[in-house]
Amino acid sequence: MKIINSVSEMQETVLAARREGMTIGLVPTMGYLHQGHASLMLEGRRHSDLLVASIFVNPTQFGVGEDLDNYPKDLERDMAIAADAGVDIIFAPSTAEMYPSGYQTYVNVEKLTLPLCGGSRPGHFRGVTTVVAKLFGITQPHSAFFGKKDYQQLAVIRQMTADLNIPLKIIGLPIVRESDGLAMSSRNAYLSDQERSEAVCLKAAIDTVKQSFREGVTSSLILKNKALEIISKALSASVDYLEFSDSTTLETVVSVDSNTLMALAVNIGKTRLIDNSIMGEE
Ligand code: PAF
Repeated sequence: MKIINSVSEMQETVLAARREGMTIGLVPTMGYLHQGHASLMLEGRRHSDLLVASIFVNPTQFGVGEDLDNYPKDLERDMAIAADAGVDIIFAPSTAEMYPSGYQTYVNVEKLTLPLCGGSRPGHFRGVTTVVAKLFGITQPHSAFFGKKDYQQLAVIRQMTADLNIPLKIIGLPIVRESDGLAMSSRNAYLSDQERSEAVCLKAAIDTVKQSFREGVTSSLILKNKALEIISKALSASVDYLEFSDSTTLETVVSVDSNTLMALAVNIGKTRLIDNSIMGEE
């Protein structure tokens, strides 16, 4: 596995591979890899002759007071996980390499970025779409792989890719969970033991809601109250948002059906965790 830090070397490498007829896969990450990332890499490996994983903690997607400076890092461990999953190249640029002085171009998807995480983290998706568009330009992938834990991010990136006519396939893959149901996330590393045990409340809330939905409850208000009751039992938890939304437009729905997305963001102590599920899916 090779590490590339420079944009020009990365571009030259993928353009040469393309000239040889190779297919390129990209798994964009911010590092501190876990089994969720590994599942994206394994799928990327199946689809691509040359598999690139990027590791870049992107400053433009963090708001003031968020965890940019403390974002967990462990490049050595990341390299071991990526190598095991069959990655060929790690692209790990510096901030100055990605945003040199004089940088002034940003990509913004409009409606889809307004609700959910877009409501609580203004500017976040503008940073995500900007860096992902840049990574697409730098690595020229035929396919790019994203996790469904960041459901809204995936929807926003699909929209950007379609709107900007970027010729690549976006592949979304299922949430990977710990054995007790907690969705894997680099941010789980921030949790104390007590918080870690309470963090299962997100998945517990989803399970309770889905059980009630299967029993015939379709009112989003009733379902939301059931979910909030579960979460309120976790003393370190405070809800940022908990919404039932159309799974395509992400607009809020009053009556829930099997295509409805339940999405929630909960602060467990100081750590903001997200999770989601489509009501009709397992
Ligand atoms: O999901 C992430 O880790 C990031 O938002 C991404 C897609 C790598 C862009 O920085």
